[in-house]
Amino acid sequence: AKDSLSKDEKLLKVCELLEKHIDYYNWVGFYFKNGDKNELKLGPYVGEPTDHTIIPFGKGICGQVAVSNKNFVVPDVNAQDNYIACSITVKAEIVVPIFVNNENIGQIDIDSNTADPFTEADERFLEFVCKQVAKILS
Ligand code: SME
Repeated sequence: AKDSLSKDEKLLKVCELLEKHIDYYNWVGFYFKNGDKNELKLGPYVGEPTDHTIIPFGKGICGQVAVSNKNFVVPDVNAQDNYIACSITVKAEIVVPIFVNNENIGQIDIDSNTADPFTEADERFLEFVCKQVAKILS
């Protein structure tokens, strides 16, 4: 059946498409609020495995987006003091929240091995992707 993919399989396909087709998207993954805990949990992703499967709210770029509800574009990760390094090859990061019924339920997180690659076009595109993901999840 056409609709036999699970939600996680669909999200993994989103990660695969983005990583495959956009050359400066080198790690693409989802983090979601972990039940009623004040932390994020790693969801589907592509790229190098990360040790950071749980991220407390407020910690790192991802944890800050969990509380700000705003996009966070980081042109140079080495210039950030509240940053969680996953790989030494990463130079830049973008995190865009996912809203379901106006609630920030998680985020897409993209790491780039290219310095300062993200523009407002990436923000608008990833906001669109996150809206489609919200439909998959709701
Ligand atoms: N760099 C992120 C942690 C997640 S990894 O990029 C996969 C952060 O500072 O929140």
